[in-house]
Amino acid sequence: MKKVKIAILGLGTVGTGVYKLLERRKQEMPSKAGVEIEIAKILVRNLEKAGKKVGRELLTDDWREIIGDESISVIIEVMGGMEPACTIIMEAFRAGKHVVSANKDLIASRGKELLEAAKDNGCDFLFEAAVAGGIPILRPMKQCLAGNEITDIMGIVNGTTNFILTKMTDDGMEFEDALRVAKELGYAESDPTADVEGYDAGRKVAILASIAFHSRVVFEDVYTEGITKISAKDIQYAKELGCDIKLLGVAKNTDTGIEARVHPMLIPSGHPLASVKDAFNAVFVHGDAADDAMFYGRGAGEMPTASAIVGDVIDILRDIEWRCCGRIGCSCYRELPVKAIGD
Ligand code: NAP
Ligand code: HSE
Repeated sequence: MKKVKIAILGLGTVGTGVYKLLERRKQEMPSKAGVEIEIAKILVRNLEKAGKKVGRELLTDDWREIIGDESISVIIEVMGGMEPACTIIMEAFRAGKHVVSANKDLIASRGKELLEAAKDNGCDFLFEAAVAGGIPILRPMKQCLAGNEITDIMGIVNGTTNFILTKMTDDGMEFEDALRVAKELGYAESDPTADVEGYDAGRKVAILASIAFHSRVVFEDVYTEGITKISAKDIQYAKELGCDIKLLGVAKNTDTGIEARVHPMLIPSGHPLASVKDAFNAVFVHGDAADDAMFYGRGAGEMPTASAIVGDVIDILRDIEWRCCGRIGCSCYRELPVKAIGD
């Protein structure tokens, strides 16, 4: 059976989750995807620090070694930031490698160029993890809701700020203390300014709007306002009004153009979005045929994000070997024994 070699760029919160989940699923890959897999290399900055997590022989601090290795077919970019991530991904496409990324900063500003470069080189570029962590949202919009004209998207798309607002509202925690815990739990960006100022949510709204409205919406098109000015007093006033404060992302396809924004809003406490707590996310999508659909789940953190990434990797693996689908009737389908109730 064919063995596909995979490289991971970055071994932080998400990279570590991806490494663990690929190792956990390794034995099942032949039945899930029709191929065996091997994690061949992991790019890190500090070999000594990373050597405490995985075998030293897997590590490199030179990305050219990965791109130059013809036996590696799939690259998982979880290092974040614009550069050198952008250059490495472009070089990966030129070398004919498929790429999975969680990097919303990059995709929200250069997604179109990256997708074109992938296409020009016959490669896949998937980034389900870039929006709302473990929640399937990009592929459902591209595929399951493709028959709709999507007009509205609204939701909570940043786990860190939702965690902070939840802790301030329900536990009376101070902003700084809640942010510290969000960092410890692996929800926050390496520079949490992106979370608390609404930039991270703005990037996700740009990606969602681009896909939903078949348009090019970049981060700079999105109005952003974060939660740094929200005080305990604001939260108390909101409570007195029977409301919660949530950081919402909104994108609308109107007759006069696309409107995209992120800012704190008052939500009646009985509204479904008010019950989205901690680092959970929720996204409402309105289509002309499906009407309203809501997607809910864990929006950040090591394993939920790894879930979205490994899903993308399996999609690519199925394509590499068999154009295989995992559906009943296909040779990739593995039937599990069904236990009769009462046995
Ligand atoms: P992180 O914990 O900071 O991990 C990033 C890792 O990449 C770090 O270990 C860092 O090394 C390494 N790195 C950065 N630049 C590098 C370079 N030039 N060469 C080699 N290694 C490099 O961040 P994360 O939370 O895992 O996030 C990674 C990506 O996933 C980001 O794009 C983020 O936006 C995205 N994402 C994160 C989440 C989440 O819940 N955390 C969810 C969805 C998407 P050092 O340790 O030496 O700095
Ligand atoms: N920092 C991001 C958040 C990670 O808190 O939502 C997930 O994209």
